[in-house]
Amino acid sequence: MIKQAEFVISSSNYTGCPDIDVPEFAFIGRSNVGKSSLLNTLTGIKGLAKTSSKPGKTRLINHFSINKGKWFMVDLPGYGYAAISKAEQQKFKKMTLDYLLKRENLMSVFVLVDTRISPQQIDLDFMQWLGRNSVPFSIVGTKADKSKINVVKKNISALVREMRKTWEELPSIFITSSTSRLGIDELLGYIENCVE
Ligand code: GTP
Ligand code: MG
Repeated sequence: MIKQAEFVISSSNYTGCPDIDVPEFAFIGRSNVGKSSLLNTLTGIKGLAKTSSKPGKTRLINHFSINKGKWFMVDLPGYGYAAISKAEQQKFKKMTLDYLLKRENLMSVFVLVDTRISPQQIDLDFMQWLGRNSVPFSIVGTKADKSKINVVKKNISALVREMRKTWEELPSIFITSSTSRLGIDELLGYIENCVE
């Protein structure tokens, strides 16, 4: 149960992140996939993480303390945001990858994928990178309220099929909606299990 949540700090580098030794969970995925919205729905606090209908809203590593610092959630900038310069894209990439590689209390990463669309190469590549670097992750399908359940199922099945080509064991997959709260309690239960 999340009883309390608050924003702590935005950092532009992993070295600036809070000095803590409790578990933290990071949310990542393509720009606009719904990372910040998911964090708000999980905590039950609207507007805790800044969201926008335009991609590229989250630009820093944002730490949120949960239950008075028992554990943390981290909202990361999205990848695949084309409307910024190559140099800016590189900067975001380095910031995020450094964080993922070097953050010692990072318990697990949630890779968000849009359930409205078929598997995206950029997501598959990112998960390959996590695997190569031994960063534990789960998959969270987002915006499930936006399409018919059959479309969601088809897209997730296609993702599973794609992943089976290279992965021996698949990560956990959650289907969620930040709007309808579908899958939110399940995801919270999973996180709380990890924390304990
Ligand atoms: P960046 O920070 O730009 O990388 O984006 P983000 O992944 O944090 O996405 P954000 O949470 O800002 O949401 C992007 C848009 O999608 C917003 O307009 C949200 O309202 C919308 N959205 C997010 N999750 C859902 C969902 O589950 N259902 C619906 N219908 N809309 C959603
Ligand atoms: Mg965001």
